[in-house]
Amino acid sequence: MKRILVTGALGQIGSELVPALRGVCGADCVVASDIRMPTGTVDKDGPFEYVDCTEKRLVDEVVRKYEVDSIYHLASLLSATAEEKPHVAWDVNMGGLYRVLEVARENRCAVFFPSSIGAFGPSTPPDRTPQDTLQRPTTMYGVTKVAGELLCDYYHQRFGVDTRGLRYPGLISYVAPPGGGTTDYAVEIFYEAIRNKRYSCFLGPDTCLDMMYMPDAVKAAVDLMNADPTRLVHRNAFNVTAVNFTPEQLGAEIRKHIPEFTIEYEVDPVRQGIADSWPNSLDDSAAREEWDWKPEYDLPSMTRDMLENLRVKLKAG
Ligand code: NAD
Ligand code: SER
Repeated sequence: MKRILVTGALGQIGSELVPALRGVCGADCVVASDIRMPTGTVDKDGPFEYVDCTEKRLVDEVVRKYEVDSIYHLASLLSATAEEKPHVAWDVNMGGLYRVLEVARENRCAVFFPSSIGAFGPSTPPDRTPQDTLQRPTTMYGVTKVAGELLCDYYHQRFGVDTRGLRYPGLISYVAPPGGGTTDYAVEIFYEAIRNKRYSCFLGPDTCLDMMYMPDAVKAAVDLMNADPTRLVHRNAFNVTAVNFTPEQLGAEIRKHIPEFTIEYEVDPVRQGIADSWPNSLDDSAAREEWDWKPEYDLPSMTRDMLENLRVKLKAG
């Protein structure tokens, strides 16, 4: 039976990954942890522990207490926050990962590490960016993601730790708000479309980025961790993608459901600079070949589902 620890579990991904893992493995087998205290039901539905991932003792104690064998390490600062606080980003993103890997090495745990399109930079081929290519990111977030990918490779090669990871694109979801990224506009736009029928976007109209709906992101993490290791050539940092659009194209899709919806642009130079340094689109054929990755949601089905679920949530709240 698997026993899982999720760090940063109260964030955008963890809020949906924890229930999904509990559904598969049983509630008691999935320990949610964060440095924030839960306001929802995550601590009533299963175990919750305060774990600052930069404190090895805390990670180690929880791993031993629950006899954890797999760690989904989600705790991190995202791209925009990391640019505001680069020193904190280094400590949390690198220091946290290093300590989690050390605990995993000592306790023989597998580790899932989410990297990002942010691991690429302006010199990376921008269209259908290959799996193996030039990575010279110009953000602190990107620096920590490339270094994290390499550190996970190192722990596998040097110590035999079963590390696996994905390069997620921007993630879109309605359960928990995004945590300070450059792609947050693609979530905010849905809230504002329902509440005010208008949205002021901090990225320009033609900023093209890959995105993914959260059910696909959760499925990707679970499927990769369950994949046959003999088929994995890349193991860490698989490119994965699902949809690709600009703010203008997303606005047009939302308008099919809310005809009065309007979008205007008030570009934030910092986040625009980050987005401009990232690829326009990724080639995820390695993930498709090595562990049968295939997303379920395209732009129309994601937009429909987001609006339906968010309307229910906002009415309830
Ligand atoms: P998030 O910001 O929503 O959540 C991160 C969580 O980590 C928060 O709940 C926060 O309280 C917690 N945290 C912060 N510092 C911590 C510490 N020292 N110890 C323990 N917990 C701490 O992030 P997310 O969107 O859920 O992303 C999770 C991971 O996936 C990150 O590594 C992120 O870089 C990566 N990722 C996310 C996206 C996306 O669009 N959401 C895209 C690519 C990659
Ligand atoms: N959505 C994330 C961010 O914008 C991508 O890693 O930071």
